Amino acid sequence: MTVEQPFLPAEFSHNSAEYIPDPFSFYAEMRAGNPAYWSERIFGGAWLFFRYEDCLRLMTDERLSNSRAAVPLRFLSEPQQREFADMIGVYERWLAFHDGREHTMNRRQVNRSYAPFSEAILEPRIQNLVDLLLDRVDPDGFDLMSEFAFPLPAMVIADVLGVPTEAHTELTRWTDDIAHLFGSTQVSVEHLRRTQASTRELVAFLASPECAAAAARQKGLLHRLHTTEVHGHHFVEDDVIAQAALLLFAGIASIRYLIGNSVHALDARPARDRELLLSADTVECAVEELLRWCTPVQFVGRVVKEDFTFTSSGGLRIPFSSQSPVMLYVASANRDPDKFSRADELVLDRPLPNEHLTFGAGRHLCFGDPLVRQTTRIALASLYRRMPNLRVLPQILNWNNNLGFHGFTSLRVAAETVTDEASGRTE
Ligand code: HEM
Repeated sequence: MTVEQPFLPAEFSHNSAEYIPDPFSFYAEMRAGNPAYWSERIFGGAWLFFRYEDCLRLMTDERLSNSRAAVPLRFLSEPQQREFADMIGVYERWLAFHDGREHTMNRRQVNRSYAPFSEAILEPRIQNLVDLLLDRVDPDGFDLMSEFAFPLPAMVIADVLGVPTEAHTELTRWTDDIAHLFGSTQVSVEHLRRTQASTRELVAFLASPECAAAAARQKGLLHRLHTTEVHGHHFVEDDVIAQAALLLFAGIASIRYLIGNSVHALDARPARDRELLLSADTVECAVEELLRWCTPVQFVGRVVKEDFTFTSSGGLRIPFSSQSPVMLYVASANRDPDKFSRADELVLDRPLPNEHLTFGAGRHLCFGDPLVRQTTRIALASLYRRMPNLRVLPQILNWNNNLGFHGFTSLRVAAETVTDEASGRTE
């Protein structure tokens, strides 16, 4: 984009290649000039919000629903939609798409099942997986995404579930297809068919006797989702599989981009910034700021339950109609100067609390946020401890083509050899 070619909000979509490398300039214009915008291009008509205050208020407004599994299929006729009923049926069981009491009960059930997976228990397990992957890379040049950032979260979440970590390649492929569905605003029927096939394969994998046996042996989360009871309530088989698929999808699709975006952002920074990731005193601030700045999940969606008028932060009165999709751009909220000082700067020692909206807010706050913080901390600290001079090779850098899951599909990096001029020593 240039000054001569201003952003055209009507052209904006989650798959427009021109917005993907730098959506933040577009967001800045929208926060200033169009903080609440009706777009015909997004799902055939949706309200888009860009300011922190609006995103936070609407995310926690009970007049909006999370029942939005079928929103990406709105462009299809009803008979066409029926072709994908089994796939949508899996997503509709996800607690992420539930409201009210149903959501509370299902979230409680998953919380209870997850209880044994404390930070202390997971620390050595995540470290082992990180070491396993980093032992295999060639420091003279490797693809950070395919060799590290992609397999790592798939292996971590497979390990928590108690299913074979060697399945990480398939888990990543299935997740990619589902992420394309939920992150995009332009999905073809051909892609829907691929996503349907991937969803069926993922479900078959999680329901297989091999996975059940492995999870039972390891007392993994998949097994605990089957066996945990809360106030006499337990998940039926289809719910167990659906919630396990949700956890895999939600974790894999996002942590990988956070790691890639962070390495890319840190590349332009002085070495002392990376050192903040290596000290127990400073790492928490640094990871929170990377979460704010490198937001991989750029928006959160809702659907209006019933007609009402919403008064936005700037006093605009927005007539919401029942069933309209509402898109809350948390990546824009995270850079709102009305909320954050030096909002457009990556300030790795930004004081806590860092009130970014990367994990959402309210009852749907991300379930996996402690696991994300822990995995990212271990991954980045291990990477820079082993390769303090890690550099991005900018000529080989490819963006994922959907804004919902913002990051690189490949990012070539190398550990630069530094020559100490005084001694002639290389390190
Ligand atoms: C960088 C990584 C991640 C980011 C940025 C992220 C972001 C988010 C956001 C913004 C939401 C709120 C959605 C809404 O309000 O509708 C959410 C929900 C959720 N996330 Fe994450 N997530 C990440 C990783 C994970 C991981 C690792 C897991 C699980 C292992 C996970 C599981 C979930 C679940 C189950 C929900 C639904 C919660 C509910 O509706 O109660 N996420 N995530």
